[in-house]
Amino acid sequence: MIFSQKIRLRSVERSDLPNYVKWFDDPEVRDGLSLYLPMGQANEEQWFENMLKRDRIEQPFAVDGKKGSKWIHIGSTGFHNLDWRNHCAEFGIVIGDKNFWNHGYGTDTVKTVLGLGFGEMNFDRIFLRVFDTNKRAMRCYEKAGFVHEGRLRRDNFHNGQYRDTLIMSVLRDEWEKMKR
Ligand SMILES: CC(C)(COP(=O)(O)OP(=O)(O)OC[C@H]1O[C@@H](n2cnc3c(N)ncnc32)[C@H](O)[C@@H]1OP(=O)(O)O)[C@@H](O)C(=O)NCCC(=O)NCCS
Repeated sequence: MIFSQKIRLRSVERSDLPNYVKWFDDPEVRDGLSLYLPMGQANEEQWFENMLKRDRIEQPFAVDGKKGSKWIHIGSTGFHNLDWRNHCAEFGIVIGDKNFWNHGYGTDTVKTVLGLGFGEMNFDRIFLRVFDTNKRAMRCYEKAGFVHEGRLRRDNFHNGQYRDTLIMSVLRDEWEKMKR
């Protein structure tokens, strides 16, 4: 496991899948994601089996949040689109348990995964995509050190209209400066 102040990262287990079903049933959770349909237990099981076939480093982490002395499964995070030649990867996160929103769990998770990406996986650039309507996510990423890099105009169709996708990133030297 990888421990931080408010969260810990661990492997996703089959027993976690009912939580994913619950989270992705919620339109408010799906709103910030490219996932636009609910996922049933069978869909999640299929996703889980396919996920296990990926390299370990391309498998997501389960996020547990610390509440008092208890750890509660609250979300998922990780890297995808890994580009080893250019030392670059895309970051993704969902805190699916809404009771944990706006309490710093997202920011702590982002910082922890950045530490893993730069400190262990030797990435030089970590980027993400976020819909311009997702103010909470943007604020969370800014707090963790991501800067705005670009805008893909009318990139995503949702609720009967288009929205823009913003690209944000952190470079290794920016992360090193933040650490000091
Ligand atoms: C986006 C997400 C990861 C953020 O996690 P979180 O634990 O809520 O984030 P944090 O509490 O660390 O930070 C959220 C910040 O946004 C702020 N915020 C919340 N709603 C906001 C709004 N409408 N406008 C501006 N800021 C807002 C919070 O006040 C907080 O900032 P503060 O600490 O300065 O007060 C989480 O909400 C989530 O997973 N949402 C659903 C899936 C999703 O959208 N994933 C991201 C895909 S790009």
